[in-house]
Amino acid sequence: MLPATLTSLLLPLLNFFQYNRSLEAIPSLPRLQFELRHLHAVSTSTRVIFSDVPSQAYSSARLRDDNIYNIQTRPITSFRPSSFDAFSTARRRSMKFGQSEPLRWEEKEIISPDVESRETLLELAKMANNAYVQPDDPAWYELGEGWNSTYPFGWEPDADGFRGHVFATPDNKTVVLSIKGTSAGMFGGSGPTGKKDKLNDNLLFSCCCARIDWTWTTVCGCYQGGWKCDQQCVEEALIEDSLFYPIGTNLYNNLTYMYPDSTLWIIGHSLGGSLASLLGATFGAPVVTFEAPGERMAATRLHLPSPPSTHHITHVYHSADPIPMGTCTGVLSSCALGGYALETRCHLGKTIFYDTVSNLSWTVDVRTHGIVAVIEKILSEPWAPSVEIGREVPEAKPEEDCVECYSWEYS
Ligand SMILES: *[C@@H]1O[C@H](CO)[C@@H](O)[C@H](O)[C@H]1NC(C)=O
Ligand SMILES: *[C@@H]1O[C@H](CO)[C@@H](O)[C@H](O)[C@H]1NC(C)=O
Ligand SMILES: *[C@@H]1O[C@H](CO)[C@@H](O)[C@H](O)[C@H]1NC(C)=O
Ligand SMILES: *[C@@H]1O[C@H](CO)[C@@H](O)[C@H](O)[C@H]1NC(C)=O
Repeated sequence: MLPATLTSLLLPLLNFFQYNRSLEAIPSLPRLQFELRHLHAVSTSTRVIFSDVPSQAYSSARLRDDNIYNIQTRPITSFRPSSFDAFSTARRRSMKFGQSEPLRWEEKEIISPDVESRETLLELAKMANNAYVQPDDPAWYELGEGWNSTYPFGWEPDADGFRGHVFATPDNKTVVLSIKGTSAGMFGGSGPTGKKDKLNDNLLFSCCCARIDWTWTTVCGCYQGGWKCDQQCVEEALIEDSLFYPIGTNLYNNLTYMYPDSTLWIIGHSLGGSLASLLGATFGAPVVTFEAPGERMAATRLHLPSPPSTHHITHVYHSADPIPMGTCTGVLSSCALGGYALETRCHLGKTIFYDTVSNLSWTVDVRTHGIVAVIEKILSEPWAPSVEIGREVPEAKPEEDCVECYSWEYS
């Protein structure tokens, strides 16, 4: 064992050499190292709250090279609105008057995760999974004020709420916001608004008020019989009541307040991934999601002004997972049992699609939705069909011919 002072002197030196070695191998693509800094959650009063990881915890993690994530990067172009206020004004105009106000988008070259690298997707998936860190671990976390350890993790008996982690590089130049969500229990069932929110989030990911069968009770009164739906009604119900998107923009704004000069990336699993994507479309931040339900229709229903390109958003999902595929429907589906109608299937940006049904002979099953399946069964091993053509992962492609809710008629 080296004395601590000596170790702390040696370590930057060692890092320096390691850093240079990797730079030599791949000259133009620096790797970034991320460490866990904060946990975030939503309080029962729907306020965004943070809990900070004490600095001794991440500096000792750095020493042990433990819980440190290595990410390969690449430069990309993304578009951001001149300000969030300008974005919100344009959005309100579109909602109220159906007018599209020209919004100035700033084109910017930023550093983003290299989504063509399997190792990088694997590390990001691990960051999006947080099963192995618990806020009640006294060695790691000092629970900040306003942080109630009983609700963010295991908020509901069998589901978890809208929460996640914030990672940063040691110099704070790049920050990763990870949003975790499950197929059920977004925002939990507790608190005054819990139930209403869950129902309203069904409006974002179902064709018409989550009504997919005559036995279903709908979450809004916009259903007009047959396959007819009142579009404006759906949007109004959504915009009035859903906290899905506004909680996300608060969270993002809070983070830019904490890290004003940093590049932010957003990652997420499941509904957390859909939210990550909507925020990426809003703020121009690079996004990587795993197994996210289709959020393209949600962006339309929320009247988000659309940037010139959404190619900074990358979705990763596989064919055996009915949730991103939009096939977790029907009265007896596990989504329905959880109180969700996840019918949408079209995604913004680009998609890295793993056909596990064809290539690994998997059967469609909601149990393959978990991020652990993605980490252990898909990303941990080289993907043979890609390797065969000299790639590490399937090519990211836009979902160009995707049609949403094709049997429905909106008026
Ligand atoms: C934390 O949340 C639990 C369950 O919602 C509640 O019973 C408890 O009083 C809360 N504790 C604090 C300190 O707010
Ligand atoms: C990075 O941010 C943390 C807060 O999360 C702060 O304590 C630290 O001093 C910052 N470090 C640098 C190099 O700016
Ligand atoms: C986060 O943003 C909300 C809404 O803008 C604000 O009320 C709150 O004080 C912010 N919290 C932090 C920790 O910055
Ligand atoms: C999966 O892909 C690899 C490489 O293309 C191929 O050799 C293998 O036969 C495929 N497996 C199935 C079940 O199609």
